[in-house]
Amino acid sequence: MEFFADTAETKEIAELSDFGMIDGVTTNPSLIKKSGRDVFQVLEEICDIVDGPVSAEVVAVKSEDMVTEGRRLAQIATNIAVKVPLTLDGLKACKILSSEGKMVNVTLCFSSNQALLAAKAGATFISPFIGRLDDLGMNGMNLIEDIRVIYDNYAFETKILAASIRSPVHVSESALAGADVVTVPPAIIKKLAHHPLTDKGLQSFLADWDQTGMRIV
Ligand code: G3P
Repeated sequence: MEFFADTAETKEIAELSDFGMIDGVTTNPSLIKKSGRDVFQVLEEICDIVDGPVSAEVVAVKSEDMVTEGRRLAQIATNIAVKVPLTLDGLKACKILSSEGKMVNVTLCFSSNQALLAAKAGATFISPFIGRLDDLGMNGMNLIEDIRVIYDNYAFETKILAASIRSPVHVSESALAGADVVTVPPAIIKKLAHHPLTDKGLQSFLADWDQTGMRIV
């Protein structure tokens, strides 16, 4: 399973990249706004840090304008994945951009029918938003499970990119459901490593070791 960082904060991305923990990055207009930085500057920097796919989202609503924006974004670096919304215009833009050999991430997916259309449009990634479905009292993880079955039934190569991840449980459940990629806010990526029994066990090993008086180096 691939791990993407769901952020436009270059400091955080560099830190995670040093740990060798991320395979790509996803951004969206809200994350770019939160960074307070120029969209091109920040995307160029991210693409310098990370070799894997970096999602950059169009903001046009008409397919021809999305294509123009997507082509411009794709000029930033070869690892840009153009992100388009799951609308009819977005699907049309996806088809055109993917036929030009560009990676396309179709975002804001909330149903398995939408995911089916994205695969038929040649999407590289489909981004079902788990947390936002949970917010409505639905079970976002069921959507990942359904898309996995549908894509496997027809051998679609579109990767399922679990998005809107709000907790470590979302990460493990996405892995169990067979998501290909999970995009996770950095704070949650760090939480994945934490377990109180690990901390407690380490404390007791180190306390015992101190009493031996030995050194390893
Ligand atoms: O990758 C999409 C993600 O950023 C949306 O997350 O928490 O705003 O639903 P959220």
